Amino acid sequence: MAKLAHAQWSSKMGFVLAAAGSAVGLGNIWRFSYLTGESGGAAFVLVYLACVALVGLPILVAEWMIGRRGQKNPINTMADLAKRHGRSRGWAMVGVSGVLASFLILSFYSVIGGWSLNYTVGAVIGSFSGQDAAASEAAFGALLGNPGSLLIWHTLFMVLVVGIVARGVTKGLEAAARILMPALVVLLLVLVGYGATSGAFGQAFAFMFTPDWSALDGGVMLAAMGQAFFTLSLGMGIMMAYGSYLGEDVNLLGTARTVIILDTAIALLAGLAIFPIVFATNLDASSGPGLIFVTLPIAFGNMVGGTLLGLGFFLLLTFAALTSAISLLEPVVETLEERTALGRLGATVVSALAVWLVGVAALLSFNVWADVLLFGLNIFDFLDTFTGKILLPLTGLGAIVFYSLCLNKEESRRELGMDVYDYSLWNLLTKYVAPIGVVVVFVAGFI
Ligand code: TRP
Repeated sequence: MAKLAHAQWSSKMGFVLAAAGSAVGLGNIWRFSYLTGESGGAAFVLVYLACVALVGLPILVAEWMIGRRGQKNPINTMADLAKRHGRSRGWAMVGVSGVLASFLILSFYSVIGGWSLNYTVGAVIGSFSGQDAAASEAAFGALLGNPGSLLIWHTLFMVLVVGIVARGVTKGLEAAARILMPALVVLLLVLVGYGATSGAFGQAFAFMFTPDWSALDGGVMLAAMGQAFFTLSLGMGIMMAYGSYLGEDVNLLGTARTVIILDTAIALLAGLAIFPIVFATNLDASSGPGLIFVTLPIAFGNMVGGTLLGLGFFLLLTFAALTSAISLLEPVVETLEERTALGRLGATVVSALAVWLVGVAALLSFNVWADVLLFGLNIFDFLDTFTGKILLPLTGLGAIVFYSLCLNKEESRRELGMDVYDYSLWNLLTKYVAPIGVVVVFVAGFI
């Protein structure tokens, strides 16, 4: 992408697809469902929805706008814009923490991408067939307990990411997303249908949408806000980088709405597919990161055409993970490329190796390093928590404060095509609601 520094998205549709391709990933299916289960259900879901609308939307638009003004990588964009508006170069730190976040996220993301690859193959060889809850849990436990196997799948996933980034075929992926994203939605609908007919659908629906507010505390709220950032690819300059390729004619607000609705719908569908199985088979909703890998094989193993559907599902999940992973590697590669003499290929290989290495530490925390704790968390949980609950919210906060403080109001109003009245609402949202919301949730999460 770096070579296209002044290029623009070929079409508006291309931009929507690229942004949605980054947003829709493991976050929607794997992370959303495991956090919902772990956080007690509906209260988490509702706070997440509120965060998406009140914090996610303004920050998404702000990141795109900053990117469109800056026309560079996130760090240089922030530094340049700050200088242009007579502000401290310290704003570049927003870009720096974003690049750090993408580096750390990709390391554990690739481990989960590896699980998804492993399950794709599992579907092919028919290992889900007739599986009950105990067998499915045992199969997943066996994978986690085998560092050699985890290493192979994690490595394979990273090789795919590097192969795609290095060969510059990301454009082809965008085109593929046009077909594959709807296919993923269709398969999720099939799974929801399975849950509705064979699972504990009513109980699952109540779990997801009837809040038990006593389950809500600062920690759950922070987890929900972190998930809103994670799932929309916010708080790490990725959307800023995308914005830098954006033509003047694109309607930011409308595009953001499309991306957000699509992303949220996929997460909710994933929840409605997974929880009916969880409750029908008495699995533990709060079992953590393995949730979808334990539940979905049970559905595929027991439904008509399950082998084929299971294969399709994990293939599409892997694909969604790949498109997001590519967007996660990009800021790291871009930064190395522009600040060292490595060149595009060298930068790609070096960043991928570093990411891979941290990923190895993450996968060892499921077995041999299970007792290695950082701040009371194993390495995997530490990476997931530190990025989601700290780096992403703080970087996103930096972006929205910079937008409200430094960018010209009148220009921004015209750019968004708003009348004075709408803009005053928008101003309220971007200047007060979103930043104060982030600060309040952030502080509440730590006391
Ligand atoms: N949004 C992606 C997902 O839901 C993951 C992702 C891609 C991401 N780029 C990001 C998360 C940037 C945070 C920041 O799977």
